Amino acid sequence: MAQIKCIGILTSGGDAPGMNAAIRAVTRSAIYAGFRVKGIYRGYRGLITDEIVEFKTQNVSNIIQQGGTILKTARCKEFTTPEGRKQAFDILQKEEIDALVVIGGDGSLTGARVFATEYNFPIVGLPGTIDNDLFGTDTTIGYDTALNTIMECVDKIRDTATSHERLFFIEVMGRDAGFLALNGAIATGAEAAIIPEISVEIDQLEELVKNGFRKSKNSSIVIVAESPITGGAMGLAERVKKEYPQYDVRVTILGHLQRGGSPSASDRILASRMGAAAIDALLEDQRNVMIGIRNDEIVYVPFFKAIKNDKPINRDLLNTLRRLSI
Ligand code: F6P
Repeated sequence: MAQIKCIGILTSGGDAPGMNAAIRAVTRSAIYAGFRVKGIYRGYRGLITDEIVEFKTQNVSNIIQQGGTILKTARCKEFTTPEGRKQAFDILQKEEIDALVVIGGDGSLTGARVFATEYNFPIVGLPGTIDNDLFGTDTTIGYDTALNTIMECVDKIRDTATSHERLFFIEVMGRDAGFLALNGAIATGAEAAIIPEISVEIDQLEELVKNGFRKSKNSSIVIVAESPITGGAMGLAERVKKEYPQYDVRVTILGHLQRGGSPSASDRILASRMGAAAIDALLEDQRNVMIGIRNDEIVYVPFFKAIKNDKPINRDLLNTLRRLSI
C-alpha cells in the first residue's frame, strides 16, 4: 500500500448537526499527524467536478458550534455509475489525494464501499446522520441534537394539545428507522410511537387512541416515524378521523428543522472523538471501515457490516414507553 500523504474529506447525503465538528477533528488530527488535508465541496459531486481546496487548521476555526456542513453536501447520482466513479478517481489522482474520510449516512457509505473496492482506495467513514440507522455504532453524529430538537418541538405542541384537548400525530424523520420516533416519544411523555419496525394494525391503533383519551388525560400525542410502512402522520390521522370522528385530530410534520441547529455537547464530543479516530484508523492501516462507538469505546466497523445489517430497535424501550404512558 502506497504511503498516505494527503487526505481528502467530504460530507455527503443529508446534513447532520456535528458534521462541522467532525470536519474540524479530521482536519486538525490529520495535520497534527503530518498529513496534508484537502476539503472536497458538495460531496461526491465535488469530487467529480474537482471542487477541492487545501485545508489548513484555520479553515476549520470557529465551526465546532455550527450546524450544517461548511463543505456543503449533495446526493450524487453520477457517483452511482462506473463512469462517474472513474472521473472521481482521476480527480483524486490529479489532486494527489491518497485517502478519503467520508462523513455521511447509509447511502454515502455505500458509495464509499463500492469505490474503495473498485479502486483499492483507502477510505474511512464517519456515521453522520440524524437517523441513527447505521449498524455497529450505538449512536451517529447528529442524532442527539435532532432528538433534542424533537423534544423541544413536541413540548411546545403539548401546550396547545392540552389546551384544546386534541389528539396530535407528530411526524419525525428517520427514513425507515424508528430511533428518533421511539426515543422522542419517551423523552416527551408521548402516548405512543408508531415506528416502521413494528406494524400497527387498525385494532391496535384503536386501543392506542382510546388509551390516549382515557378520563385521566385530556390530550394525546402520538409520534410517527416517516415511512411508507407507518403511512406517516397524515395517513394515520386520516384513518383515525374516519374511524373516530369524535376526536379532534391535528397533524404536525417536523420536517427539515430536525436537521438544523447548533450541535449538542454530546454530538460535538462524539464528532471530535470519531474525527480523531478516523486518522488513527488510517495510521493503523485500517481500510474501508466506519468509525463507530460502542459502550463508550471507539470501534472500527467494516463498511459491509455497517451498511448491510439492519440496526435493531431496543424492544425494552417500547416496553418502557407502554408502561409510562398509562
Ligand atoms: O437521512 C437523513 C434524512 O434526514 C432522513 O431522515 C430523511 O428521510 C431524508 O434525509 C430527507 O432527505 P432530503 O433532505 O433529501 O429531503
